[in-house]
Parts: sequence; C-alpha cells; structure tokens
Amino acid sequence: MIKKQNDIFKLDTKNTSYIFRVMNTGHLEQLYYGAFVSDNDGYDALYEKSEVEYANSVLYCKDSGVVSLEQLCLEISGVGRGDFREAAVDLTLDDGSYVTDFVFNSYKIYDGKREINGLPSSFGDCTTLEIQLEDTVIDAKLTLFYHVFEACDIITRHMTVTAGGKTLTLTRAMSAMMDFPRGNFKLMTLCGTWADEMQKNEIELKRGVFCNDSKLGVSSNQHNPFMLLSDKNASEKSGDCYGFNLVYSGNHCEMAEVSAQNRTRVLLGINPFHFSHRLNSGESFETPEAVMTFSSCGSEGVSHAFHKFIREHIVRGAWAKKQRPVLVNSWEANYFDFDEEKLVAQAKAAAALGAELYVLDDGWFGKRNDDKSSLGDWFVNLEKLPNGLDGLQRRFAEIPIKLGLWIEPEMVSVDSELYKLHPDWAVAVRGSHFTMGRNQLLLDITRGEVRDYIVDVITNALKTSRASYIKWDMNRNIAEVFWLCEEHNSDFYHRYTLGFYDLMRRITGAFPDVLFEGCSAGGNRFDLGVLCYMPQIWLSDNTDAHRRAALQQNASMCYPQSVMGAHVSACPCHQTGRTTSLETRFAVACSGVLGYELDVASLDNAQREAVSQQIRFYKENANLLQFGTIYPLSFEEFDGAQGWIIVAPNKEKAIVMLYQSTFVANRRSLVMRLEGLAKDKKYRFESIDKRETHTATGDLLCRAGVRLNQRVMLENGEEKVRVMGDYSALLYEITQMQP
Ligand code: GLA
Repeated sequence: MIKKQNDIFKLDTKNTSYIFRVMNTGHLEQLYYGAFVSDNDGYDALYEKSEVEYANSVLYCKDSGVVSLEQLCLEISGVGRGDFREAAVDLTLDDGSYVTDFVFNSYKIYDGKREINGLPSSFGDCTTLEIQLEDTVIDAKLTLFYHVFEACDIITRHMTVTAGGKTLTLTRAMSAMMDFPRGNFKLMTLCGTWADEMQKNEIELKRGVFCNDSKLGVSSNQHNPFMLLSDKNASEKSGDCYGFNLVYSGNHCEMAEVSAQNRTRVLLGINPFHFSHRLNSGESFETPEAVMTFSSCGSEGVSHAFHKFIREHIVRGAWAKKQRPVLVNSWEANYFDFDEEKLVAQAKAAAALGAELYVLDDGWFGKRNDDKSSLGDWFVNLEKLPNGLDGLQRRFAEIPIKLGLWIEPEMVSVDSELYKLHPDWAVAVRGSHFTMGRNQLLLDITRGEVRDYIVDVITNALKTSRASYIKWDMNRNIAEVFWLCEEHNSDFYHRYTLGFYDLMRRITGAFPDVLFEGCSAGGNRFDLGVLCYMPQIWLSDNTDAHRRAALQQNASMCYPQSVMGAHVSACPCHQTGRTTSLETRFAVACSGVLGYELDVASLDNAQREAVSQQIRFYKENANLLQFGTIYPLSFEEFDGAQGWIIVAPNKEKAIVMLYQSTFVANRRSLVMRLEGLAKDKKYRFESIDKRETHTATGDLLCRAGVRLNQRVMLENGEEKVRVMGDYSALLYEITQMQP
C-alpha cells in the first residue's frame, strides 16, 4: 500500500513501513524504514531538527532556514550542494561542471510495474510510486521508482536519469540509497573464491566507508551482491535486520558509509568503477533494480522475505514452481574422456537408479579433449559421438532418460575455428599478449553480430540435441576491456552485462520448456539477474559435504533451496580430497536441487541400492525439500553442530539435516530444538536410519527440543545411538501424526 498525505509518502508492506517527506526545499527527507507503524496525522516527530546551524557545515541556501544536506537522511543525493557523503548520482556536463541538485517535481502512484529497458527485474503484483525530481540548472531529470510487494515485505527501487537540453556523462547512478539516522550497525556479506564461495563476512560498521563490490565483470564469488545490515544486538532469530540485493549480474557495488555524525548511508547499484555513460539530450539511463527488506525477527526474517520474493517475483517460466528433476552430471565422472557407449552406459545406470536426466557436461563439441581448445565451435565432436547429438538423444529416448547439455556461449578458445574466422570478436588487447582465464577469451557480446552468431549456433545445437536441460557456464572474468573502449569506453562492463541479458532472453525464450541452470565456475555469477532467466544456479564446484553444509546454509541467508544446484559426488572429494560417507553427501545435497556427479555405472551393489533409496526418498519429498520453508537450527558452540529444518507450507511434514564435523568422544546428548512446526500438532520425529524415534507436539519439539541419541564413532552392538563419525550428516523426518 502506498499513501500520500500532504508532503508525506508512506509505503507499507504487511510488516514494514517506509516513510519519507518532501521538504520545503524540494529534497526528499528519509524519515523511517522498519517495523510497520500505523498511520499518523503528522510525522513531524520524525523530522531532523535543525534550528541551530552546525558550525563548519554548508547551508543549502539562505532562504530555506537551517538546512544542511549533510545533516539529513535523504532519499537521494547528488554532489556539490553540501552533502559530503557518498553520492547516489554523479555526472559531468561537457563544460566540466558537476554540481547536481535534484528536487521534487511530481509523483504518480499506480498498480503493477513496467519492465526496465534491457535489464531483468521482478514481476507480478505490486504497487508503484514514481517520483520525478528535476535539476533545472543542468536541465536533467531523475525518476525514482519504488515497487511495493506487500505480502513479501519487499520494496524494490531503481531510477532513471534523463538528460534535458545538455549532454552529460554519468559516472555514478546507484539504484537505491537508504539513510539511517544512527550508526551502531553490523554488516554481513557473502564473500569467497572458486570452490569456497559464500563465506560469511561479518563486520561492525565504524565511521568511514565499507564497500562490497565486484570489478570482475560478473557479480562474482568474491563478493555476492547480497548484504545484511543489522542492529548490533540482533541475531539469527531476533532483532532488527535489513536485507539488500541487486537484480544485476555485472560489476556491482554495495556501500555502507557511517558519517562523522554517526548516520549510516547504504548505497547499492552498478559499480562506479570504470563506469561512465554518455547521455545526449533527451536520452535516459535506467539502473538495475535494488531489493530491500526489513525484519524485526532477526536475519531469518530477512531470509524468508527474500526466499518468498525470489520464488514468486524473480524466478519465472515453466519451471518456476515445478519440481526439478534428479540429474546425473557427467563432469566429474568423465571430464573430457568419453564416447557414446560410455555415456549410454552411464545414462542407463542413472535411469535404473531413478534419475530423470543425464547431463552431458563439457567436451562434446569441436575437438575439445581438454580445456585448451574449441570454445565457440558448438558443433558435435563426431569422434566421440559418431551419431551426433540427435543420435545420442535417440539412444537416451530408448532408455528412457532425458538429455541435458553443457554450454559456455560467451567464450572463445584461441585454438578454435571461430577464433580463426573472427579473431576480432575476442575481448583482448591487440598486438599484445592476452591475459587468459582457464585458457580462454571472452567474446565481445556488446556487439550485435557476435550475439546473433551465438544465438544461431547455440539454438541449432539445442534443437538437434532436443535437450531438456541446459547448464550455461562462464569460466573466466573480464579483463582487457579497455581496448574496446572507443567512444563508449568505460561503459563496456555494463554493456557486456546487457549483452549477456540479451543472449539469455533470446536463448531461454526460444526454449520455454527447457530447464536452464546457471553456472560460472560454480557460483561466480550467483545473482538475482541470472535467476530472472534461469530458475537454478550451480552453487559451487565444491561438492565436499563438509564445506557444502556451510556453503548452502550461508547461501540460504538470501537464496531459497529451489535455486541451488547440489550434487553428491565421488569420494575422496575431487576438490578437497576429503572422504565422507554416501549418506552424508546425500543428506547435505538433498536440501537443494539434487544431482549426482560420479560414475553411476561403476557403483557396487550396496552403493546402487543406497543411491536408489536416496533418489526414491528425494522424489517423495522433492516439493518439500525444494520449496519448503527453511530455518537454520541453533546449537551451542560446544556441540559443534550445524543444521536446518525444512517445513512444508501446511506444516504436516518437515525434514531436518544435522551436520557434525569432527567426532569428540564422551559428549552429552545433543539438544536439537526444531523450528517452524505447528505448536499443537503431534509429530513423529524419526532419524532416517530409524534408530531414534519420538512422538511429541510441535511446541515440545520447538521449545524444549529433543535430546538426541549419544553420538558414537563406530557401532558396537548398541541400537539406540547416533553413528556419526568425522564429517557426517544425518537426516530426520518429522511427520504429523493422525489425531
Ligand atoms: C566449470 C563448472 C563445472 C564444469 C566445468 C566444465 O568449472 O563449474 O561444473 O561444468 O566447468 O568445464
């Protein structure tokens, strides 16, 4: 609900309120964002009080009383009128001047929202507030967009900058700015690297600027665009928390600045790093959409708001709410070493285990026998697959099992037919050596003819293979863009991102029933932009259950299980060398979109039986596991335990994943307090190995918790124990009992 009352704008969701006003100078003063407050006759209690001039500050203008922009919480800020904090907009006119002063002009409130030019954004029912600001001196306009998604407690923001009579160069255009009248926040971001994505990075904000950003050209595994800002005393389960994210897959930047006066400013949007966009008279620039939420119930409230929003307003298309198939992926089983017979044997074994889809990963095209060649040559390798992709598809249909295919459309290998034909299509500095990432170069997808070629050749491969699933990979970061500068030089990163969206729009649009999974060397482009086109993303190349348990739990701070690819792979783990049991690997992977990434044709009888059972269990519970509400479980540090519970919307069923790393002898019973169950329903609580069974009401399970069986390393004839050696996980089923 959006209300305008005199000079006040009030945006309400189910549990939150967002209030700002138009000051008599025309600036927008941010008054409040937090837990829902009822409507008031006036809101002057929230105004910044400024009767006395702060010494050494810059007054906005003599006639408007004591107004210093630096001493206010604002909705938007420019440069050069006395606000010395980080600006949301920065631009230069051709004469070199850069003072901006955007003030209120008009507003509109309406139902629904329109798309953002060339960029993905949220969809579905919402209410929109559009505010037009104007700077009459430089003759430019800013339009601020606010979209209110009431049921999800989400407000999204973005803006448009429009040049009037003068040409200007935008060097910063953030999507949202949020000022708080206080400091004392802590901040959490998700940082990492290849195979070690999504580590929690927690800091206490102090005066100065903290920046979480990517300059890699992709949203990156180094700094995911999600950011959690919380009260110092907030926790997972209680306290005031704000969540922010960006619907964007390129260079992004989330800043938190605590001013000298201890106000906090949050900015998020396209990274100003080498961003500059020229606007001729009448032209506009639209920023990506920023997403914000607030919860007074700790970070869990923020996670739940994001999960609901992502499921209902970001992920779209045929697969959005559909149960995802269990797949077997060929990569770690074969790497580049396979032929048709080997694939068919593995696909038969996969089908016999109950898998629904066999994904042929890298190596099926050109003469790609290692990662040094053939990217760009999306023609089947007839030495490996003499009957082509269509021949393979026919054999798969007989099994029957569906075929999935790996592609990496944005890349080219120097050793490829494509590079021979079009060396100028690569992003590289001519006449110098190339910087290589995994031996490959990027294609310049800012160019229409390059994108047309990619769309043609990929569409053709997908048509021939009749693939039901596509894994869209991207294995290097962007460097050497400056060669391609020319007239729009510093805008390359953004134009690359727009090119990527154009490719995704055209290719996914041509195959509406195909399930697409994003991938970028694992989670190097795990963001809301990709999720607007592809309903799931491969979270990490690291499939070690030990690391994955943390990785998945951290990722679920923002992203729901239905968007996370999670596989059971071979042991010892190819990324860490660690050995974990098949049960443990499954227990962790089944809380995502499940796959197997090992040679299923060479499993022994016991393993085959175990995997069949796992797949049966997963399929029976896939809707719950993929789309249920997930709650992280809290344990004392002493217990060294980690876990989560996923609860069905009707609360009739839930599944718990408990993970414990190294075994410690002689420990007391672990107390596991559940969450999300119906307090008055009676449940059966049972470990998947059936060694622990209890019946209890939801309130007992959630408030008092269960004292679990004692943990032992090896079984010694006792029945009622928890056999969990080093690095092990166990599943529990919680099922409502008939009254
Ligand atoms: C990337 C992906 C892997 C696999 C390989 C293939 O590293 O993350 O899952 O597809 O590429 O080359």
